[in-house]
Amino acid sequence: MSLIQTIKNKFKEKTIHKKWPGLINAYRDWLPISDKTPVITLQEGSTPLIYLKSISEKIGKEVEVYVKYDGLNPTGSFKDRGMTMAISKAKEEKCEAIICASTGNTSASAAAYATKANMRAFVLIPDGYVAQGKLAQALVYGAEVIAIKGNFDKALNIVQEISDKYPVTLVNSVNPYRLQGQKTAAFEVIEALGDSPDILCIPVGNAGNISAYWMGFKEYFQAKKSSKLPKMMGFQASGSAPLVLNKIIKEPNTIATAIRIGNPVNKEKALNVQKESNGKFKDVTDQEIINAYKILGKEEGIFCEPASAASVAGLLKMKDEIPKKTKVVCVLTGNGLKDPDCAITNNDAVFHQELEPDISEVIKTMGL
Ligand code: F0G
Repeated sequence: MSLIQTIKNKFKEKTIHKKWPGLINAYRDWLPISDKTPVITLQEGSTPLIYLKSISEKIGKEVEVYVKYDGLNPTGSFKDRGMTMAISKAKEEKCEAIICASTGNTSASAAAYATKANMRAFVLIPDGYVAQGKLAQALVYGAEVIAIKGNFDKALNIVQEISDKYPVTLVNSVNPYRLQGQKTAAFEVIEALGDSPDILCIPVGNAGNISAYWMGFKEYFQAKKSSKLPKMMGFQASGSAPLVLNKIIKEPNTIATAIRIGNPVNKEKALNVQKESNGKFKDVTDQEIINAYKILGKEEGIFCEPASAASVAGLLKMKDEIPKKTKVVCVLTGNGLKDPDCAITNNDAVFHQELEPDISEVIKTMGL
């Protein structure tokens, strides 16, 4: 038999790529859906858990650090996990329009899933504080984008009031189906690691995702699919840290615009997570966020958005408090391509520009 034939036969025996049905179909038994629920999916979920060699070495003590790279979801953030549920349930309830306030990712995701479900999407964003990639997505997916001269907290108040008075479904994380979808990330982490990690590090804005992960960890633990529960470490940007400072921040500010939130709507839930998991909320400065962002890019080959890097920045900051041989998972919530302006301004790359199109010039520049 020829070599080619042998290889062909081998592949016939074992299918390498398996079709992923999207998280609602994958975790049907764990979600509040029925046969009547139309599944609106872009095949979100099943994102990789990646071992970080360089960061693990920086922590030392035989600690293993992984990232849950949720920036590889269809619209480039973890929001797709919640949105497939929120939009499917809205469709089941015959809703024709949805609304959200957003620092960018929720609006991109809501717009994509609403389009898939043939619904109108209204998104309110803080004018001038949404990364270019996210704004581009909302526009391309066909949302009606409304930019207000105010921050996310103000936008959220407005959309909550509108959805109370008019037939438009709110798809921010106060919508309980959002957290149901997002909890599946914890299931995937347990399945990939074979057990729960010892510590989960996660960026916190409106505090929905930390609450969703905790729900997922608890459900798998109760079903004996894991042997322990993780300590939940939530990280906020220093200029925007209401849970760390235990007060509303009227003018939140940070380079990590995704988590530029001064009054998290899921505050009570998040405080409960902290208590139950024996976790903590801590803050990281913009400088620490950018430092982690650069390390992830140039030492691990992983490009995330600045808000996501807050989880790794936080881990590096609390390095001395990490016990020996623990397994830590940092959640990377969004893709680096979302915020090209931040990337262009914050890198240590060598970028030679305006060279003559001449081979000797190029060779000279290369130092050969
Ligand atoms: N990371 C990214 C990339 C985000 O976009 C967000 C939230 C968070 C972390 C924080 O998650 O709010 O559940 O604590 N973004 C929202 C939005 C607010 O509008 O896209 P959280």
